[in-house]
Amino acid sequence: MKWIETVAEAQRLAKKRLPKSVYSALIAGSERGTTLEDNTGAFAELGFQPRVAGHSAKRDMATRVMGQDISMPVIISPTGVQAVDPDGEVAVARAAAARGIAVGLSSFASKSVEEVAAASPQVLFQIYWLGSKDEMVARMVRAKAAGAVGIILTLDWSFSYGRDWGSPQIPETMNLAAMLKFGPEAALRPKWLYKFAKSGKIPDLKAPNVLPSDQVAPTFFGAYGMWQATEPPAWEDIAWLRAQWDGPFMIKGVSRVDDAKKAVDAGVSAISVSNHGGNNLDGTPGVIRALPAVADAVGDQIEVLLDGGIRRGSDVVKAVALGARAVMIGRASLWGLAANGQAGVENVLDILRMGIDSGLLGLGHSSIADLSPDDLVIPDGFYRPLGVTQHS
Ligand SMILES: Cc1cc2nc3c(=O)[nH]c(=O)nc-3n(C[C@H](O)[C@H](O)[C@H](O)COP(=O)(O)O)c2cc1C
Repeated sequence: MKWIETVAEAQRLAKKRLPKSVYSALIAGSERGTTLEDNTGAFAELGFQPRVAGHSAKRDMATRVMGQDISMPVIISPTGVQAVDPDGEVAVARAAAARGIAVGLSSFASKSVEEVAAASPQVLFQIYWLGSKDEMVARMVRAKAAGAVGIILTLDWSFSYGRDWGSPQIPETMNLAAMLKFGPEAALRPKWLYKFAKSGKIPDLKAPNVLPSDQVAPTFFGAYGMWQATEPPAWEDIAWLRAQWDGPFMIKGVSRVDDAKKAVDAGVSAISVSNHGGNNLDGTPGVIRALPAVADAVGDQIEVLLDGGIRRGSDVVKAVALGARAVMIGRASLWGLAANGQAGVENVLDILRMGIDSGLLGLGHSSIADLSPDDLVIPDGFYRPLGVTQHS
């Protein structure tokens, strides 16, 4: 397949290839979509201050995050990739390994942690606060035995119910009734259908990482119900969970400075400033606006990452300039996967790498370590420091 030039082009191909409901599940966003739009829109508001001479011929973008050496400041975010591609998260993990970066694996993923960890030595297993404490520990023990090297605890999901543009219909299981219902949609996407038919697997919409491997995997919605029924955690619970994992541990979904400080107190190694890609509380500002205050407050104590709205290498450059140690990407890799499987994800990673390199060159830097806010044009009123005491 020919080279995909930008993430926007990968998105167009994904839209063309995927059945409508699968594509809309990737777009998602909640309620009015304000956060979804601001995640990308805020990046577009930032500009650059380029330099024209004294450039280095070699530019260094390798870094270390969550105890892992990675070839550029990009990690693949955990996403439930149900039904995008028959190889799903295994293809994503292979692409990440081929490009020397770490990959998050969702506990709602369609492939088992054992299969995915066999495809990449740098798997960060993502969990939710779901089920009993014993079940949560069992999930982490299983991930460690499989070879996962870190934990991502995602805390920002708010069980939002509606989207003004309509929610995709996802069947509980792919039984005959569901196939008849979704068949006409799928028939309009013969390449997608062919890929699944060739692999002999229909997307079974199960979540094989939620229960121990010797138990029957719940359906995606079964697991979702278990999660919804779980009492949300207090900070003491999070400190307890963190202590059960011997290794790097990230909280994903922090927006506020006060929460970031509590995360430090809970003993985590990293946080990701994230709003779940605009899928949690709509009205939360774009992540890049909230990042600098968080990075200033805790960046010298723990690793601060950002995820949300990354669509090009220059977005990565902007995030690093404003204090992120690395970024994580969600939809960009899913669109690559939909467009061309493992090769499509590799293509997207190459787009980002080339964009970071071009950004460093244009700014006259030899390393991502040289990036700072002075490289950017930042409009007045751009920042949104959240959770900073406003009364004293
Ligand atoms: C389809 C989809 C599924 C997702 N599933 C998960 C998940 O299972 N666990 C999780 O922590 N985050 C999940 N996320 C959030 C991503 O990890 C990430 O925070 C978000 O996609 C970043 O925004 P971006 O898509 O603009 O890069 C999901 C996002 C999307 C779009």
